[in-house]
Amino acid sequence: MQKEIRKKDIGIFDSGIGGVTVLREIIKILPNESYIYFSDSKNNPYGDKTKGEIIKRCEEIFEILLKRDCKAIVIACNTASSIAANYLRKKYKDIPIIAIEPAYKMVYDYAYDKNTLVMATKGTIESERFNLLFHKYDNHKTKILECVGLADVIEEGNKDKIKKYLEENIGKYRGKIENVVLGCTHYPLVQEEIGQVLGKNIRFFNGANRLAVHLKDILTKENLIGDNERKIEFIDSSNKKEKEERFYKFLEEEDL
Ligand code: DGL
Repeated sequence: MQKEIRKKDIGIFDSGIGGVTVLREIIKILPNESYIYFSDSKNNPYGDKTKGEIIKRCEEIFEILLKRDCKAIVIACNTASSIAANYLRKKYKDIPIIAIEPAYKMVYDYAYDKNTLVMATKGTIESERFNLLFHKYDNHKTKILECVGLADVIEEGNKDKIKKYLEENIGKYRGKIENVVLGCTHYPLVQEEIGQVLGKNIRFFNGANRLAVHLKDILTKENLIGDNERKIEFIDSSNKKEKEERFYKFLEEEDL
């Protein structure tokens, strides 16, 4: 007998609107679901926070999403995933938790011999989880860059500031890099601008598509796949109208 499907929503969260780059990939693969997206812009950036602060925030967001009866939770933030995912999985055993991580293994699988730049937050880069991943798949041609403040600049959305930040921080790699791992969910929003600074023919690696496939596998296995009219609810912890507008604008940019 089919298990009754009561819980409908997939909860997804990030420190801000960056996780929209993950949601876009999920919707392509799971179009008939309803989503609750939680943007924690009141508390961002996560990248410079302590482990304890990030875990506490993740627990608070989990409680909000669980009260809304979500059937699965996606951590669409590399920083939160790398610091808190293991802890959250132990604490919340009854709900599938799907966590993004920098797509460094894809470099190992598809472009091992190429010069690689991993861009991520300080929190991600210093985490044990990222270090295990990096040492397992190290191609010995990789530079790792802590992009302190970049997620904030992207969140703010000022194009000139974004260009200036990138020029000042990654300009030194121009012509020297072939692969870029976008290790923060905000960075795909400025992929084009990163390419303009680094030069042509950069191959970008982003874990969002893999995460979406994995989420679908898990929902299928648990008999939780929905057949709903698509609905996307946006909640922002600072209640800023402009965040909501930019979030939906980024969603509309894709042909979903
Ligand atoms: N978007 C987040 C990530 O993937 C965090 C950015 C931040 O708040 O520092 O790491």
